[in-house]
Amino acid sequence: MTTARPVTVITGISGGFGQAFAHIFSKNGFEIIGISRHEPETPIGHHLSADLTDPASLPHLVEQIGRLTTHVDVLILNAGVGLYDSWKDMNLDELRSLVELNFFSPVALAKRMLPLLKTSKGTIITVSSVAGFLPVPCMGAYCASKYALNAFSDTLRAELLDTGIHVLNILPGRINTGFSTRAFGSRTPPETPFAGSPEKLAKAAFRAYVKKKRQLVYPGWYRFLSFFRNTFPKFYDRLSSGKWKK
Ligand SMILES: NC(=O)c1ccc[n+]([C@@H]2O[C@H](COP(=O)([O-])OP(=O)(O)OC[C@H]3O[C@@H](n4cnc5c(N)ncnc54)[C@H](OP(=O)(O)O)[C@@H]3O)[C@@H](O)[C@H]2O)c1
Repeated sequence: MTTARPVTVITGISGGFGQAFAHIFSKNGFEIIGISRHEPETPIGHHLSADLTDPASLPHLVEQIGRLTTHVDVLILNAGVGLYDSWKDMNLDELRSLVELNFFSPVALAKRMLPLLKTSKGTIITVSSVAGFLPVPCMGAYCASKYALNAFSDTLRAELLDTGIHVLNILPGRINTGFSTRAFGSRTPPETPFAGSPEKLAKAAFRAYVKKKRQLVYPGWYRFLSFFRNTFPKFYDRLSSGKWKK
């Protein structure tokens, strides 16, 4: 593929956000290299098949990317999974798989991709969640993985200041992708009337990328929910746990 066009590498390309990110970046002139275990329904650019929870697969994956391109302009660390269970009932193997995918895999891939990102003074986009700053009962494991991802993103940005590599952290609220149907755990999350669309999220993410923003909370009103939670923590705990009563 070796190309003069800018290149975006996206993990979780076969899912809702991955597809939407691929469309918006491709529309704006980027070559796409997508990673997931399964082929996307609508292929865009090059697909590389890998299980990101298997650390042994990473060297080969990065070698494959290096054969396709000499530079990476944007690395979108998007692949992730949910887990709906209380800490009391949680299966620890599922917890380990979740942390492997949501936290260790983006850290490990970003580390290995730094040389290709340095060439182009590129951007790393981490896909976290509002659950990374709002504690949600029965989603504690997922929250923990995204709180950790936020810490990674914010400290990596500072550490890379002199390299020209920028880090943008995206924190979406509930978006319609079928994400909850693929989650670990035994609980079903409560319905929300406010779920957004992956296409609108991807557009907002692209704008945030162009403006070199550090963070995007989408939709922005989740910031008020965080303010509400910090102001009335007991009331928030009661309200949020009440939604999960079986
Ligand atoms: N949807 C939401 O409401 C929402 C809200 C906030 C944050 N997020 C975050 O946004 C990201 C994307 O969510 P989404 O809604 O697009 O999820 P999704 O539709 O379930 O897609 C998840 C993607 O991750 C890939 N993936 C899962 N396990 C993998 C593995 N072991 N190795 C490689 N790839 C793997 C899947 O591909 P394969 O199965 O083909 O491997 C798929 O492409 C996640 O990090 C999620 O936590 C989602």
